[in-house]
Amino acid sequence: MPVKILMVCLGNICRSPLAEGILASKLPKENFIVDSAGTGSWHIGHSPDKRSIAVAKKNGLCIDQQKGRQFKTSDFDEFDYIYVMDNSNYRDVTHLAKTPEHKNKVCLILNELFPDENVDVPDPYYGAVDGFDNVYKMLDEAAEIISKKLIKKHS
Ligand code: 4NP
Repeated sequence: MPVKILMVCLGNICRSPLAEGILASKLPKENFIVDSAGTGSWHIGHSPDKRSIAVAKKNGLCIDQQKGRQFKTSDFDEFDYIYVMDNSNYRDVTHLAKTPEHKNKVCLILNELFPDENVDVPDPYYGAVDGFDNVYKMLDEAAEIISKKLIKKHS
């Protein structure tokens, strides 16, 4: 059974599609499935934001095929690990958890880089284009650590 990892942000068009693409590129496809979702419903069925597609492309990744979806309670059963981008996502997702096991699956992604500091991946949606480069770099560093941990733990 492949290990399943879910990346979650608010809209599922800027940060979590990048997080999905970056982590998937660092893990063997046979053993790991990476997906993403948003806590909000505005962008269901939408492609990632053009600026996320562009920064992914600049770094050699294609995320064009992704489609937005909303986080749902059954994701707690479906996924082994749930990484959220910011503290507000953490509150929204853990609010839906019905058991401690479900809640324990949820981690702030930048705690992998800065343990226990609870740092947000800033939402680049309303900001300048270089916000997307900054987000890419943070997510790439976090995904590097996550991929090493997961490969070690699950193989
Ligand atoms: P994301 O950014 O959570 O990184 O996908 C956002 C994208 C869209 C909206 C909010 C955040 N929105 O309100 O439409």
